[in-house]
Amino acid sequence: MRRIHLSLLIMEVPAERVLCLREFTDAFCHDLGSRSRRVSPNEPRKGREVAYNPSPMERRLYIETYGCQMNVADSELMLGQLGRAGYRRVERAEEADVILVNTCAIREHAEQRIYGRLGELTRYKLRRPGVVLGVAGCMAQHLRARLIERVPQVDLVVGPDGYRRLPELIDEAREEPTLGVRLSRVETYGELVPARADGVRAWVSIMRGCDKFCTFCIVPYVRGRERSLPADEVQRQVEHAAAEGFREIVFLGQTVNAYRDGEVDFAELLIRANRVPGIVRIRFTSPHPSDMTDRAIDAMARCEKVPPHLHLPLQSGSDAVLRRMRRIYSIDEYGRLVERIRRAIPGIALSTDIIVGFPGETEEDFEATRQAMARIGYESAFIFKYSPRPGARSAEWPETVDDREKTRRITLLIEEQKARSLRKNESDVGSTVEVLVEGPTKRTPTEWFGKSRHFKTTVFPHRGERVGDLLSVRVAAATPHALLGEGVRAAAFAAVEDVPA
Ligand code: 5AD
Ligand code: SF4
Repeated sequence: MRRIHLSLLIMEVPAERVLCLREFTDAFCHDLGSRSRRVSPNEPRKGREVAYNPSPMERRLYIETYGCQMNVADSELMLGQLGRAGYRRVERAEEADVILVNTCAIREHAEQRIYGRLGELTRYKLRRPGVVLGVAGCMAQHLRARLIERVPQVDLVVGPDGYRRLPELIDEAREEPTLGVRLSRVETYGELVPARADGVRAWVSIMRGCDKFCTFCIVPYVRGRERSLPADEVQRQVEHAAAEGFREIVFLGQTVNAYRDGEVDFAELLIRANRVPGIVRIRFTSPHPSDMTDRAIDAMARCEKVPPHLHLPLQSGSDAVLRRMRRIYSIDEYGRLVERIRRAIPGIALSTDIIVGFPGETEEDFEATRQAMARIGYESAFIFKYSPRPGARSAEWPETVDDREKTRRITLLIEEQKARSLRKNESDVGSTVEVLVEGPTKRTPTEWFGKSRHFKTTVFPHRGERVGDLLSVRVAAATPHALLGEGVRAAAFAAVEDVPA
């Protein structure tokens, strides 16, 4: 086995044990764009291989991102950091001398897929041994040296708190396999300027890590303890993004509404961001129900740039399961929270996360989830099969729901949610929605799309609008996943895959 250079050895938290990615394969999702499989814009392209002319000075970086928006934001951070160190980003792995894969570990399936992709990427290394292959993110933190044992072509394993030192770690990895997997209690990357992808949306990670320790979840072990960016840094990032021309800010954090810096809470951040000229929308993901204070609800209601949409993970509708998941709310408390939110923000669209097949989930527990989803009436939902994650508490408990039964339960919920989403979207037909214009759809360049204030993908015929415009679209038809403006060829949007990220 190759010798592994332990660049940083001390762990501040038990990290032997493995973010927030929503896998589309086992999830129903309305917002395919932000939660699709590979979120990097540099999709590998088939076809002609590009000739490689190695030069000792060149620093060409290819980065591919898996998982949730936090990972997308982290990749932008890495791009910023490496850009300052002289790296130029390339769009094809075969052109790069550093290949980075920013990974996810939330479910086993995510890791399996990344192993498959690493297998493909190793061929560039075999062809040109000087290439550095690095694995970043949650799977890197979860597996650490074991990743190099399993894929010996991997030169660098760097966890979510190691990105500040990324240029040095890459240099070390040119010499010998290198690990940068120390978790930090304080790292927030506050002052580092990310290289943001073009578009309307700027991700701003306002806090990192999680202290909730839901028993199914690996996040606290791979992203470490909860910590918030200084409020001044958040405001500076919002203003910087506005100056760069971004129109929408998305505050990110594993429990984003747990944000606190001294006297400044999450509500205050929304109020401050609401004052920044140029920004027209402020969104955030994902809040924890138990941190959803009246102050935050009130700020959402009063800030006109915060649209009426909230992703509020429920996970289960059964108190017994919620207790074992350590979600720290009951279904009644969640229901009362939803009532308060709906009273303050009439017509708000809600979406959620649900897990089926958690250890001990009985048929009655599952029925309770089904009923809760129907009662609350979500606009959309991400539904997952429970996946035991070694290191998380529940992985020690016997699985009581087999895969066939998980499939039955998830299929039922997906079908019911799809019908509900369609009904909700159809109720918008005939109305006019405000769309923040994002760009052309994949299939029909003359048809563009954007998000409505309810965060529904809305397609419209392009008549010269520009990316970032706010546009009024009259809704003529609906699918479970999208609203279609007048003049759109409805048949082309039977499949949500037509709408790119
Ligand atoms: N198995 C299945 N789903 C999970 N999630 C988190 N951990 C697991 C797991 N072990 C889901 C939760 C969370 C979303 C990001 O992923 O629903 O809200
Ligand atoms: Fe995981 Fe629970 Fe923390 Fe969300 S709140 S990241 S589900 S531990």
